[in-house]
Amino acid sequence: MAAYQYETHEYDVVVVGAGGAGLRATLGMAEQGLRTACVTKVFPTRSHTVAAQGGIAASLGNMGPDSWQWHMYDTVKGSDWLGDTDAMEYLAREAPAAVYELEHYGVPFSRTEEGKIYQRPFGGHTTEFGEGPAVQRTCAAADRTGHAILHTLYGQSVKNNAEFYIEYFALDLIMSDDGVCTGVVCWKLDDGTMHVFNAKMVVLATGGYGRAYFSATSAHTCTGDGGGMVARAGLALQDMEFVQFHPTGIYGAGCLITEGARGEGGYLTNSEGERFMERYAPQYKDLAPRDYVSRCMTMEIREGRGVGKDGDHIHLNLSHLPAEALHLRLPGISESARIFAGVDVTKEPIPVIPTVHYNMGGIPTNYWGEVLNPSEENPTAVVPGLMAVGEAGCASVHGANRLGSNSLIDLVVFGRAAAIRAGQVVDREAAIPATNVASVEKCFERFDSVRYAKGGIPTADLRLEMQKTMQRDAAVFRTSETLSQGVTDMTAIAGKMGDIKVTDRSLVWNSDLMESLELTNLMPNALATIVGAEARKESRGAHAHEDFATRDDENWRVHTVSRVEGNKVDLTYRPVIVDPLTTEEQGGIALKKIAPKARTF
Ligand code: FUM
Repeated sequence: MAAYQYETHEYDVVVVGAGGAGLRATLGMAEQGLRTACVTKVFPTRSHTVAAQGGIAASLGNMGPDSWQWHMYDTVKGSDWLGDTDAMEYLAREAPAAVYELEHYGVPFSRTEEGKIYQRPFGGHTTEFGEGPAVQRTCAAADRTGHAILHTLYGQSVKNNAEFYIEYFALDLIMSDDGVCTGVVCWKLDDGTMHVFNAKMVVLATGGYGRAYFSATSAHTCTGDGGGMVARAGLALQDMEFVQFHPTGIYGAGCLITEGARGEGGYLTNSEGERFMERYAPQYKDLAPRDYVSRCMTMEIREGRGVGKDGDHIHLNLSHLPAEALHLRLPGISESARIFAGVDVTKEPIPVIPTVHYNMGGIPTNYWGEVLNPSEENPTAVVPGLMAVGEAGCASVHGANRLGSNSLIDLVVFGRAAAIRAGQVVDREAAIPATNVASVEKCFERFDSVRYAKGGIPTADLRLEMQKTMQRDAAVFRTSETLSQGVTDMTAIAGKMGDIKVTDRSLVWNSDLMESLELTNLMPNALATIVGAEARKESRGAHAHEDFATRDDENWRVHTVSRVEGNKVDLTYRPVIVDPLTTEEQGGIALKKIAPKARTF
């Protein structure tokens, strides 16, 4: 075992992760004069937000009437009544201001004829509290919206003197004996040195864990690092069973084809050439919410109406759209279709299949981004010194199913909220917490246990076993049988973590060690997902349980709270927050409007 020297850094705030949420938090902290560091395992503009295509939801009303109350209603309904109402109100209400801020920071949005921000329709976004037609609410920079946002936020953060630690991999949180987070330990990938960041506030913005599955639109970097660190600190994960399948991943390649393609007029067909969504969702057709479209596609395939020689996928048609519109509004996916499916979208349909895309669950937080440590006595107890934002967090604004384009807005609204909150709770005059040496040494011990692992299973083999199991057993449709098989298999797979084999023991650019450490993060996320799914005896949002086909609000309108230790998951539940922030008299939405009802499209 090695004794590691480390460099110590002191900041008011350390943000871990430089995607949209991490950068928006970093920028907001730095703008307020908080000494802010952002540590990130990849160069900021390579973070997974760069892959976000279709746009960012906000009720600007540039393309027809809209209101934040309609946006909030759609989000509540989209969440299948599992979202926390205060957070959903905050999201919808703050969204327009957050988007205008982005515009003023310099995001090059596409424009209408009048020069306003261009907005396109996306699934589940409607008017008149779900009674009216689809609305154009998704603000877009062609189909490269995430790219545009990420580059702008990085430039602004640098301008505001945020300090970046690039290609630093966060290993573990530093926790005090009385449960306060006081920093994070990092490994610098390009020279192998160790770094301790002591801070008054740590913000986890580490993204999702899509790579727990075999086929995902998520980047290979999406390994649930924040969730892994939180689980090792004895803290909770929430609602992990809700995993979003995006209807249009390219068949075989897994790359995303934006929902904006259907927003611009594209449509899905089966082997009979039928526009089958008209049958399943007469009102919103191809622009029904994602969980529902993914299920409909899966049913078409199961019933023998899939396309291709194995009848195992669906066609997305764009060739009827004017070539100029494709060029102007959908240049990125036209290129992806050519490269990854060999398809010229002006002439042929794109082969697509529902593909893992987003984790609704994550680290539980309130709508200020403060991490919660829920107990029966206090379901909203805050962990001092720790925040989580973006896909790593669970505010819970998406509940059981996220609406398309509510992800980018979640990143910036809650990244901004975390900065506002930190401005209130971080005492600028207080001393930076001293290094908790015991916590740092514990982290190094764990690091060494992976670095010197000499078991019988290469990391890549165990990762593949996990990914195949998750893909098979925690799929679009789940049954008691697949879920209980999944729990048995994943418990055994997680139990093999102590038997992994790492062959490269060096510290500089050691991808073998890095991927092994990432697997230690993916594994608790995956395990919590399958165990939470097996326990939930109902169907809600993305959790479609064939043996319990309906939603059961009486027993299951609750958040799943999981604590993972090794290959064991302890499940408890916490109530959903049903009260909005403002009453109807204060301009808010009437409680009866958002009371649970059947979700129809
Ligand atoms: O389809 C898309 O462009 C993805 C958007 C999202 O996940 O919000």
